[in-house]
Amino acid sequence: MPSRVAILDFGGQYTQLIARRIRELGVYSEILPCTEPVERLLGGGYTAIVLSGGPSSVYEDDAPLPDKRLLESGIPLLGICYGMQAMGYLMGGHVVPASVREYGKAHLRLLGREGLLEGVQPEADGLVTVWMSHGDTVLTPPPGFTSLAATDNCPVAAMADPARRIFAVQFHPEVAHTPQGKTVLKNFLDAAGATADWSMPSFVDSAVDGIRRQVGKDPVLCALSGGVDSSVVAALIHRAVGDQLTCLFVDNGLLRKGEVDGVVRTFRDAFKMNLIHVDANKRFIEKLEGISDPEVKRKTIGAEFIAVFEDEARKLGHIPWLAQGTLYPDVIESVSFKGPSATIKTHHNVGGLPPNMRFKLVEPLRELFKDEVRELGALLGLPDEIIWRQPFPGPGLAIRVLGDVTEERLALLREADAIVQEEVRHAGLERQVWQAFAVLLPIRTVGVMGDFRTYAQVIALRAVTSLDAMTADWARLPYDLLGKISSRIINEVKGVNRVVYDISSKPPSTIEWE
Ligand code: XMP
Repeated sequence: MPSRVAILDFGGQYTQLIARRIRELGVYSEILPCTEPVERLLGGGYTAIVLSGGPSSVYEDDAPLPDKRLLESGIPLLGICYGMQAMGYLMGGHVVPASVREYGKAHLRLLGREGLLEGVQPEADGLVTVWMSHGDTVLTPPPGFTSLAATDNCPVAAMADPARRIFAVQFHPEVAHTPQGKTVLKNFLDAAGATADWSMPSFVDSAVDGIRRQVGKDPVLCALSGGVDSSVVAALIHRAVGDQLTCLFVDNGLLRKGEVDGVVRTFRDAFKMNLIHVDANKRFIEKLEGISDPEVKRKTIGAEFIAVFEDEARKLGHIPWLAQGTLYPDVIESVSFKGPSATIKTHHNVGGLPPNMRFKLVEPLRELFKDEVRELGALLGLPDEIIWRQPFPGPGLAIRVLGDVTEERLALLREADAIVQEEVRHAGLERQVWQAFAVLLPIRTVGVMGDFRTYAQVIALRAVTSLDAMTADWARLPYDLLGKISSRIINEVKGVNRVVYDISSKPPSTIEWE
């Protein structure tokens, strides 16, 4: 049986990172809420269990504590930060509440290895850099444990009871600021006897089997947007059930230059999928006429998407299954203790499906993180332009044409945006920025071209760096690149005489302008 590690989420901000690091080490891992009944944990066939960090103190009245039966179960355990304090507290160590939270870089003095810190190399000063973020501190380890490391503020920064295969660290081995953290996690997995049998090719095999078992001979419908997630779902399901899959691609007329052709080329021509390309351009433009309020735009587009989807799905007859690109971060957001531990996720889910249409869901990406989805996409043969596509809002260019949306204004923005995409790509910065795009402002300004005064449109450039879209900073694009984009837009896009660069961060601004 393949190895599986459970991570009990006590609400820590890095819980997802723990899962990712363990998977990077080739071992399948999943996140469970700390409220998961102990019987299910013990009977779940887990090779090892990690107790995550979290914001609580073990001395709070409602502190979430692991069940003692888990600690006595014999399953190899690793406590991280709050997980270590909870272990120390429940197993008879001495844990004290700190008056201030220690946060940031710390330097470990190694006192022992006991398997857990094997291969961790002291740096030039004889110490090991780690990342700390904790309130409570373990002063004395519980009976049976040896203290393995200390920092100036933390007398027990790591501890181990190798005979029972229980380990704990006060620092965060999962973050990049703990440079040798992966060695610590690997040591734990080795001590737990976990084997590195999780890989993308093995995921494809088991997902294909799973999809076949789930849908049998039934037809499956997939709403394809051309974005990464729905594209990878389509490719995976197609690999599993071939022609049983029908993809519905609604062209709402709000996509960027070349996107419609790209989707049709990839899925119909290269993958030979049953692709229904619905040209709903006119329907959306008509509905958007006279609407300038951003939220009304979003709602109108969302409602029209559902209407188009319903019309088309009805033509296809009864299809019981709907494929969706739900990813792991969406799943764990809904299970975590005391609200989400993860802040990843975009809001406003335009493209939501008809509530009155009854589908059973196929969600083969439920276990994957975004970077794993990209790896899977590459393995399934999807082109880079889809795998590395930047996030693009459901309402598309309609929320980048500020004010009234007309075909002319969309066409103008599409041309300007294509220049932004092209130049950012040529500069090799496409994967370094989170998003880079053009926005058409609802004003005109005065300019001079040749001997003539002009009174024409303004394009704003928006380029941001971000990890999750929740916060973002304006990208420091090179001046030469900005200059080139500006002069190309003004020269090549008729009707534009000025380009400005947006230098606001999020918060307080947002990434999109509407
Ligand atoms: P904001 O503008 O809120 O955007 O900073 C955060 C991220 O979400 C995307 N976004 C949307 N995605 N429907 C979507 O599917 C929407 O209505 C929408 N509005 C914003 C935005 O592109 C950014 O990645």
